[in-house]
Amino acid sequence: MVPWRATEDGFVTQDNLDWYRRFAKGQPAALVVEATGIRDIPSGPLLRISHDRFLPGLQKLVDTVRAASDGRTKLFIQIIDFLAVKRRPDPAKYFQRFLEITKRHRLAIAELTEDSSWISAGEASVRAFLKDAPDDVIERALDEREIESLRFGYRERVTDTHLPHIRELPQVLPAIFADAARRARTAGFDGVELHYAHAYTMAGFLSALNNRDDEYGGPRENRARLPLEVYRAVRKTVGNDYVVGTRFLGDEVIAGGNRIDDAVYFGVEFARAGMDYLSISKGGKFEDAEQPKIGHAVYPYTGQSGYECMPTTRSDERGPFGRTVPLVARIKHAVNAAGFITPVVATGGITTFEQAEAILQNGEADIAGLARQALADPDWFIKVKLGRGDQIRRCTYTNYCEALDQAHRQVTCKLWDRKELDEPGIALAEDGRRRLLAPNWKA
Ligand SMILES: Cc1cc2nc3c(=O)[nH]c(=O)nc-3n(C[C@H](O)[C@H](O)[C@H](O)COP(=O)(O)O)c2cc1C
Ligand code: SF4
Repeated sequence: MVPWRATEDGFVTQDNLDWYRRFAKGQPAALVVEATGIRDIPSGPLLRISHDRFLPGLQKLVDTVRAASDGRTKLFIQIIDFLAVKRRPDPAKYFQRFLEITKRHRLAIAELTEDSSWISAGEASVRAFLKDAPDDVIERALDEREIESLRFGYRERVTDTHLPHIRELPQVLPAIFADAARRARTAGFDGVELHYAHAYTMAGFLSALNNRDDEYGGPRENRARLPLEVYRAVRKTVGNDYVVGTRFLGDEVIAGGNRIDDAVYFGVEFARAGMDYLSISKGGKFEDAEQPKIGHAVYPYTGQSGYECMPTTRSDERGPFGRTVPLVARIKHAVNAAGFITPVVATGGITTFEQAEAILQNGEADIAGLARQALADPDWFIKVKLGRGDQIRRCTYTNYCEALDQAHRQVTCKLWDRKELDEPGIALAEDGRRRLLAPNWKA
């Protein structure tokens, strides 16, 4: 879970160490470090593993988790690539600066105004015209992507193959992922998790919306090609005695996106290729995200796909609980039927021991993963182990933590961040009003 605690240039901070120490004290069997960037480019306070200069901090993180869990917790790191997403612009600025004025705009305005002099109009007058034009005119003068850039902010896609850096992704990404995985092994992590889920680059390749005209788009086997090439490059670099898993979507929950049949195909192919585990998520896409405010970036956890990714109590009769499990079960059964024993991880709305145990006993998944419930109570795991489930602080799934993530503010949980604020030596959030870590469990 991204807690927004790295430095602006992606280094591990004391707050990061404390965050993972707090989870490790609860002794989960495995802990996956937040989505960590593999490219050496500025990406705000998100962890990075994009250069060897990040190794000392990451090594410290590994040592911290080992010590706090008494060596009982395996530590993996999730590695991610993402494409450019710009904030929603102020419309005046968009028309004055960002929109690239072309012949198409001049022709459209000429047609709309029935005035052919627009065909040879200067750029400044075209910009001024569009800036003051009503919505219906804008909708006819701009193409779909330009309207999206105006109303949501510019966002790249893997299908933008007219851009050289997007066309070349299949040539560059395997080596970048492999270098990051090598660093993960050097730093002492027990494994890497390839982030092929949600709204990011690799999920874009897997998506049914990926209609690239090269061998990396179109039919399923083409869409799986780059994810498999990345995996093979990673495997070649880290060797066979190292854990390489992936997180991908059981359903994209967007119009025209992947459904469970696609996910089953990918799961079987990933298992066949030798991946060590498959962690299944759902949704979390840009395509159906809500319109952001001006100056804010679109957030992929706001639409229906976002709801299915991090479901809240505002729900249907199933509630936020285990909504991904039927998809996980389908993938697990197909993987097993194809002759593989690759563990499949269920995540999403898993909150009680009984629920987690039933999922495993029913053969629906091999491993249960908890995100928000672990944030609500990092001691969930040890409490369950010791038979102290009655003392667990239950997540209420109202997504206060997700709202903090959306605002790029340090993530905390509403069940504990105002508690015992007078405790000596505790770290507070930048707003000075919230503790950054759950209070210690007094058993
Ligand atoms: C604050 C926050 C940060 C998250 N960061 C990540 C992340 O870095 N990588 C990832 O795969 N999922 C991330 N997720 C999604 C969770 O892993 C998980 O799929 C989702 O919250 C549903 O599971 P849950 O009901 O156990 O929380 C994040 C969720 C939250 C609330
Ligand atoms: S803030 Fe709310 S949704 Fe998030 S972990 Fe805490 S109780 Fe759960």
